[in-house]
Formats: sequence, C-alpha cells, structure tokens
Amino acid sequence: MIIFWILAIVVLAFGWVVFRGAPYVPSQNRYIKRALTQLYPLGSKDVLVDVGSGDGVVLRRAAQLGAQTIGYELNPILVLISRFLSRTYNSVSVVLADFWTTSLPDETTVVYAFLVTRDVKKMIAKMQSEATRLNRPLYFISYGNVLPGMTPKKTLDAYGLYRFYPLH
Ligand SMILES: C[S@@+](CC[C@H](N)C(=O)[O-])C[C@H]1O[C@@H](n2cnc3c(N)ncnc32)[C@H](O)[C@@H]1O
Repeated sequence: MIIFWILAIVVLAFGWVVFRGAPYVPSQNRYIKRALTQLYPLGSKDVLVDVGSGDGVVLRRAAQLGAQTIGYELNPILVLISRFLSRTYNSVSVVLADFWTTSLPDETTVVYAFLVTRDVKKMIAKMQSEATRLNRPLYFISYGNVLPGMTPKKTLDAYGLYRFYPLH
C-alpha cells in the first residue's frame, strides 16, 4: 500500500507540471558545455537563471564556469534531487517556485530555458517585461525552440542566443 502512495506522489509530482510548462527532460551535458562556452561564454560576472531547472544539470555546469546560478523548479522531488546533487556547489541555489509567477533576481544576466513550444510566446512576453522592469538588457538561451519574430544573436546545435532590451 505504501508503494502505491509513493508511486502516486511521484506520478503526480512529475505529471501535473505539464499544465504549467515542459515535462522533465534534462539537457545533455556536452551540449550545455558548448552552449555556455561557445554560444554564450559564461563567466564569474554572470548570474544564470534556469527556468525549470530539473535535476540542476545546467546550474552545475554554469557554476563550474564561475557563474552564480538560480533554478526555479515546480516539481518538489526534482528540487530535492537537484539540491542534493548540487550540495557541493556554493553558487547553486534551487527554489521551489513556478517561474511564471516569479520575478527574476535583480542580478540576472542570462536566462536558460528548455520549453515546450506552446510556452514560447508567453516566455517572450515574460522576458520582455523583466528586461523592462530591470531596465537593462537580458540574454536568453533557448534550447530546442526558435523565438518567433526575433533574430538570434547566435545559434549553436539546438540553441539560440537572444537579447531582450527594455521597452521605454
Ligand atoms: C525540459 S525540463 C528542463 C530541465 C533543465 N532546465 C535542463 O535543461 O536540464 C523542464 C523542467 O521545467 C520544470 N517546470 C515546468 N513548468 C514549470 C514552471 N511553471 N515553473 C517551474 N518549473 C517548471 C519541469 O518540472 C522540468 O523539470
């Protein structure tokens, strides 16, 4: 009986997020490394936010390159797993939160997103409003999705690098 309840909780935790964003599919390590070195050369001046941080693999790769990193994750099981896997990284923090209702930290320089296509336009609007609120440009790394109506600064593998400017 206890197994049933554990399974039910796991299925629920992983299942219901699809109503709020992409299901859990991790980015691949070697592509993350290329993206954070060749597409957007990440460094110690950067604060990277992963919107939907999964098991935290992107956060850890970014931390290895010297950046501060924050992940927002809706699935509490993945929050626990990513905090455990990232426990030796001081510059990684994972917050249990819905990124649609959370403002980016003021220090954010770059946002990483592995979205479902359905959410791309909503994310464009969110990034535009955050760049305007912070009154400075923000970089955006999109994995697997082209942003309609926008020209990427650069592309590499399945990634596109975009820049959002404040609207006045
Ligand atoms: C495709 S996975 C990407 C994981 C990680 N960014 C990576 O690239 O390895 C998307 C993640 O976003 C989380 N997620 C979906 N909707 C969310 C929301 N509204 N707020 C926070 N996390 C969300 C899912 O639970 C899942 O772990």
